[in-house]
Amino acid sequence: MRKPIIAGNWKMNKTQTETVELLNRIVENYTDVEVDAVVCVPFTSLSKASELLDNTMIHLGAQNMFYEENGAFTGEVSPNMLKDLGVEYVILGHSERREIFGEEDDLINKKVKTAINHKITPILCVGETLDERESGVYLDKVKTQILNGFAGIDSGDVSKVVVAYEPIWAIGTGKTATSEDANNMCKYIREVIAELYEAKIADNVRIQYGGSVKPENISELMSMSDIDGALVGGASLDSESYLALLNY
Ligand code: 13P
Repeated sequence: MRKPIIAGNWKMNKTQTETVELLNRIVENYTDVEVDAVVCVPFTSLSKASELLDNTMIHLGAQNMFYEENGAFTGEVSPNMLKDLGVEYVILGHSERREIFGEEDDLINKKVKTAINHKITPILCVGETLDERESGVYLDKVKTQILNGFAGIDSGDVSKVVVAYEPIWAIGTGKTATSEDANNMCKYIREVIAELYEAKIADNVRIQYGGSVKPENISELMSMSDIDGALVGGASLDSESYLALLNY
């Protein structure tokens, strides 16, 4: 059985002071739920968030990471640095990293392998643009991202990866993919992983949907056969809506 995983991606939002306010509200009002609850906060908030979330049911995540352990990589953050702060999850290959910062599959694959080696759960993001959806190449696009993202990963490590399917046209636009479209792609991703390894392994991989998920649409999305969770931007920035998402 795949345990649902709901992760908030705060993106470049919340100062340290605002992080403390939001996390305190979340922790105070949190009621036990049957999902893995994750908050992926900015680097500058990780230390404070780590203190606040210690001994709570909320897991800590980062939004990016470099693949080397240390060295002359100005501006980068290493797996050891994240581990030291109690980080358990890391978002890798988010479409904003791919589109704005030019990250490509090869780099993202190195990061995924590094995260696994450091026992940090990678949340590997994939997804197509509106042009790719409309021109009909979206399945090929996502297949390539999955094949490249999993390159060189041992079969025993596959289920350590969480995949997030985020169609770029649905991010921050208020346009959600229909539950059927989202599920079809998540199912397709599982088939690609099954072809690459085997069906039994693919069945254990958790696949999230992301893109304008909110309290109003999460239960329908979560009722679909191949959607095991959500990666949520905007609606994770408010304690009430984040908690409503966890209690879908
Ligand atoms: P929104 O939920 O704001 O559409 O963002 C989705 C996203 O990019 C999460 O990683």
